Amino acid sequence: MSMFDKLFDEAKAAFDVAYAPYSNFNVGAAILTKDGAIVSGCNVENAAYPEGTCAEAGAIAAMIRQGHKRIAEVVVIGDAALCSPCGGCRQKIKEFADEDVKVHIANLDGLVTTLTVGELLPAGFELHGKK
Ligand code: THU
Repeated sequence: MSMFDKLFDEAKAAFDVAYAPYSNFNVGAAILTKDGAIVSGCNVENAAYPEGTCAEAGAIAAMIRQGHKRIAEVVVIGDAALCSPCGGCRQKIKEFADEDVKVHIANLDGLVTTLTVGELLPAGFELHGKK
């Protein structure tokens, strides 16, 4: 099984248990960490809508909790033509990933497209940006 297939399966398992009763739009995300672990997350909505969290945020929280430091690869899955990570999630991913890290965007049929973190978030915010 390829690494993409493993990440896809983990992201799909997260997608299947997402809590999205308000949007009815499940999202799952799986991260391969630089030290070889796979962690996943799903979106978790809330009756107070802005309190909901994205799948990528859940996966990143799990990654940090489990002691992993850096992202090597990401798969995001949603039942859409292009379930592209939202702007906030692009910045969240950037915090832990180099610009050439691949983010695979998938739907229930499989891979849709692959973009790098740098392509998803050019000129992303850096607290101590180089002059
Ligand atoms: N969502 C994610 O989980 N990740 C994204 O990058 C885009 C949007 C979720 C948030 C909300 O629960 C649902 O998709 C509809 O916006």
